[in-house]
Amino acid sequence: MSAAARAVVVPSRRAVTGRDDGRMTRVDRQHLGRRRRRASAFVARDVGGRGRSLSVVTNAAVAAFDVAGARIAGVGKAIPEKSLTNDDLSELVDTNDEWIATRTGIRKRHVITGDETLTSLGAKAAMQALERANIAAEDLDLIILATSSPDDIFGSACTIQAAIGAKKALAFDLTAACSGFVIGLVNGTQFIRSGGYKNVLVIGGDVLSRYVDWRDRATCILFGDGAGACVLTATTADACSLRGFDMHSDGTQNHHLIAQYVGDNGKPMSEGASNNGAFCNISMSGQDVFKFAVRTVPMTVNKSLKAANMSAEDIDKLVLHQANQRIIDSAAQRFGLSEDKVVSNIAEYGNTSAGSVPIALCEAVETGAVKEGDILAFAGFGAGLTWASAIWKF
Ligand code: COA
Repeated sequence: MSAAARAVVVPSRRAVTGRDDGRMTRVDRQHLGRRRRRASAFVARDVGGRGRSLSVVTNAAVAAFDVAGARIAGVGKAIPEKSLTNDDLSELVDTNDEWIATRTGIRKRHVITGDETLTSLGAKAAMQALERANIAAEDLDLIILATSSPDDIFGSACTIQAAIGAKKALAFDLTAACSGFVIGLVNGTQFIRSGGYKNVLVIGGDVLSRYVDWRDRATCILFGDGAGACVLTATTADACSLRGFDMHSDGTQNHHLIAQYVGDNGKPMSEGASNNGAFCNISMSGQDVFKFAVRTVPMTVNKSLKAANMSAEDIDKLVLHQANQRIIDSAAQRFGLSEDKVVSNIAEYGNTSAGSVPIALCEAVETGAVKEGDILAFAGFGAGLTWASAIWKF
């Protein structure tokens, strides 16, 4: 029996009943019956629906999928039309182009205006990725939207699903701040690897301009809006592009980067509870976040390299979250990577949070900087605090 098959074998009668004598009660029998009916329905639906091969592993009619792999079939991006240069910001706060460029590498950032929303950016990036992948939206099984700034508190993945016409796809949001896309990429791959999904769309996007305090020079210079997307599609297990990954959270350090809810603490009967709820502006301890990033990025990439049985010399392109050029340079230096192996577009877009890694990837593919077969080291880090990395054979 394969490892995958072993993993889904129905528990023994004793485990199901929880009784020492192993005898089943009427309730136990109903429970097991329901499990079997669900499993049988699952087999029938999938054989008819997607035609993937399945193996029935026990008399209890539980199915196991053949283990598959995932590869990126297409990438896309969407950037708001309006941009704000450092000089523009110097009219809002006491800053200047030289300070911002030297400390961060940022020259401008894009911000949504008019009808632009997270949904419109996400849908545009998604359509471009689908077109390049030559996959129809109707053929998507899953949409994961990594974002911290949905248009609706219940999430924006479903509105993107509707906007692009991905009728049969499950769609949900994933909130992990600037690490969101990398975590989404790993998640999407896992759904393909073991969950029987064939085509998965992973979008990373944020519109943090809504939460930036445009009077605070310490934060308003950093953030911009944008979205990127990639279509993952199933391939053989051997050809899986995800070679290793590493993901972490540390909520004890949450206070370093927050945009908290304020209101009436959600007390339903309190005065004004129905109209006072709001999220604060972004508040950040810049130096602490900087130190955290410089420490954790090399650590997590090293762990992913180890999981992939690779070393830093194997990296063709470092695709890091674009938060600060000095953080990117520091990581590149630690790995001994020359400038041509480092993807950077922070000067143009600033920190687009969950959008930054897929936008950087998309641009690198468009310019030919990333080619088929390249080994990519992705890493994201940010609020939560969260940090994650993945080694990917493109
Ligand atoms: N323009 C001009 N001066 C500024 C300024 C601005 N936009 N922002 C801060 N300053 C001033 C400070 O007031 C301080 O002045 P003082 O010395 O008179 O007190 C001085 O510049 C140095 O401030 P400091 O906060 O120590 O600067 P820094 O070198 O740490 O750079 C960041 C600030 C925010 C650029 C940097 O800490 C950083 O990038 N941190 C990581 C943030 C990040 O990546 N967040 C997102 C993670 S997803």
